Amino acid sequence: MIRISLEEGVQILRLDRPEKKNALTGAMYTDLADALEAGNTDPDIRCHLICGHPEVFTAGNDIGDFLQYAGKVAVADTPVVRFLRALVRTEKPLVASVDGLAIGVGTTLLMHCDMVFASPRAFIRSPFVDLGLVPEAGSSLLGPQLMGHARAFELLCLGNPLTAEKAERLGLVNEIVEDNVDETALNCANQIASKPPEAMALSRKLLKGDTGALSERVEEEIRIFADRLTAPETIAAFQAFMSKKKA
Ligand code: COA
Repeated sequence: MIRISLEEGVQILRLDRPEKKNALTGAMYTDLADALEAGNTDPDIRCHLICGHPEVFTAGNDIGDFLQYAGKVAVADTPVVRFLRALVRTEKPLVASVDGLAIGVGTTLLMHCDMVFASPRAFIRSPFVDLGLVPEAGSSLLGPQLMGHARAFELLCLGNPLTAEKAERLGLVNEIVEDNVDETALNCANQIASKPPEAMALSRKLLKGDTGALSERVEEEIRIFADRLTAPETIAAFQAFMSKKKA
């Protein structure tokens, strides 16, 4: 459900569960975490490209999985937590191609990317509070840094969607691509992969700065998020989504 290939130094991670709008399962998070971690040690991987399908990047975490995790599994053991940590520790540049829905972690992972390309139909939304949850993936720190508190509040607490244009204005997206956003993103990833790798790694590290505070925030979010998974208002929101879909 993650199609992974390596082409000329670019590791392509294609989210591939279109029948469920690319909602991310534990198995998918494990594959993503493995692939990102592999990039830290494999010199043949010079850049990662994460992409989805036409009209859907990802609908975020699988809500059925959330219901299964609630109160049953120590959240520190879950694949999603492994993925979030791998995202912070990724040493190779990360490029994203967003064509359509980018929801929940589909929004927040973009804040870790070095380059983000979006089609005009990109729809970027984080309904954490609506689901009784809190922002994750370090977005409670990265969001305000990137776009200012008020705009981050609107995105991460109010759950208002961003169009591609607005995301570009806020600095979350580098470029809106009218036709074949994947191709443009791949060209960019190829460009990155063609640069001297050591200088690229050192430069990226300088730009990212000290990630200690980010790691701490990710862990704090994980603790609160795990508590919220058992909150009655959260379980009610998950069940409402699941039962609506069965009706
Ligand atoms: N978790 C589990 N299943 C999901 C999902 C998710 N996050 N997002 C979509 N799906 C499933 C739907 O249940 C549906 O399954 P079914 O065909 O078995 O009923 C299928 O994907 C298609 O989704 P559907 O809702 O019919 O498509 P849509 O175009 O009407 O709406 C969304 C798309 C993404 C707007 C809507 O599915 C949605 O709101 N998903 C939840 C997003 C979310 O809250 N993610 C968690 C963020 S923390």
